[in-house]
Amino acid sequence: MGSQVAERAAGRPRVFVARRIPDEGLESIVAACESDVWPDELPPPRAELLRRVAGCDGILTLLTDRVDDELLDAAGPRLRVVSNYGVGYDNIDVAACTRRRVAVGNTPGVLTETTADLAWALLMAAARRLPEGDRYVRAGQWRTWGPLLLLGPDVHGATIGIVGFGRIGQAVARRARGFGMTVLYHDVQRVPDEVSEPLGARFVTLDELLAESDFVSLHVNLTEVTRHLINAYTLAAMKPTAVLVNTSRGPVVDQFALADALRDGTIWAAALDVTDPEPIPMDDPLVGLDNCLIVPHIASASRATRGKMAAMAAANLIAGVRGEPLPTPVVAGA
Ligand code: DGY
Repeated sequence: MGSQVAERAAGRPRVFVARRIPDEGLESIVAACESDVWPDELPPPRAELLRRVAGCDGILTLLTDRVDDELLDAAGPRLRVVSNYGVGYDNIDVAACTRRRVAVGNTPGVLTETTADLAWALLMAAARRLPEGDRYVRAGQWRTWGPLLLLGPDVHGATIGIVGFGRIGQAVARRARGFGMTVLYHDVQRVPDEVSEPLGARFVTLDELLAESDFVSLHVNLTEVTRHLINAYTLAAMKPTAVLVNTSRGPVVDQFALADALRDGTIWAAALDVTDPEPIPMDDPLVGLDNCLIVPHIASASRATRGKMAAMAAANLIAGVRGEPLPTPVVAGA
């Protein structure tokens, strides 16, 4: 399928939208801008992306589109804004954009609860072995009620360690409170007591968190510091009964070390919404492991949330091409 180039009206800002997004955002973009919307399910190949952005005033990108000097060069001097459809923006070289006075926007806040819901679903599903149970039934293996069948750990009353205690980490802590869990957290700095106390969350070192938690849930941004934060060494510091949940970014976990840890019983199970790379290759060792649940980066995938993200990304794009301050800007170095 080729691209859909909307009718071009003279004088309107030109934008490239790197995938179809929900109408809550797309309609206002098409109404305000001369819009080239990439129509395929797969992202534009790099060469096509570089070609399409040439001469644009604004670009709406997804986490699959790398924004770096090469892309900014290809876009040229008219470019005023890169609006990312998502809260994470590790696909964007923000410093390079800032050097060229290109504003960068993202969609914080609106996906917090939906992402925490998915982290919780993964935690529950891994603990109670839901994918394995489903596979077992469909394979015709269910013959009777079994006292030892598909046993797992209790979630209620257990200890959860939340790594990265921003909006989403805190939303996971709220869910954990409802399950009567002990909540530990680690981040580069402590949050104020008025935030952590109502959540019953206690700041600990990463070592303490790994050693004490039955469930470890990752909610950090991907940076050079957090890349492979979970590795052979940190996995070995976890309980052999522990469950690791990752809804942050794939490269936060060293996947080969995780596969070894799941295979040799260093930890008990993992549940991943994100992998490195995405999609995960079918010959990745994790794919063959029953104690590793993997879903395709769907943490924010509720209809309502994806609509709100679209509206926010559109608002950033339209403000940017008009030279107005973005409603939700990303700040370099923040
Ligand atoms: C984000 O927003 O960063 C997610 O990973 C996609 O919703």
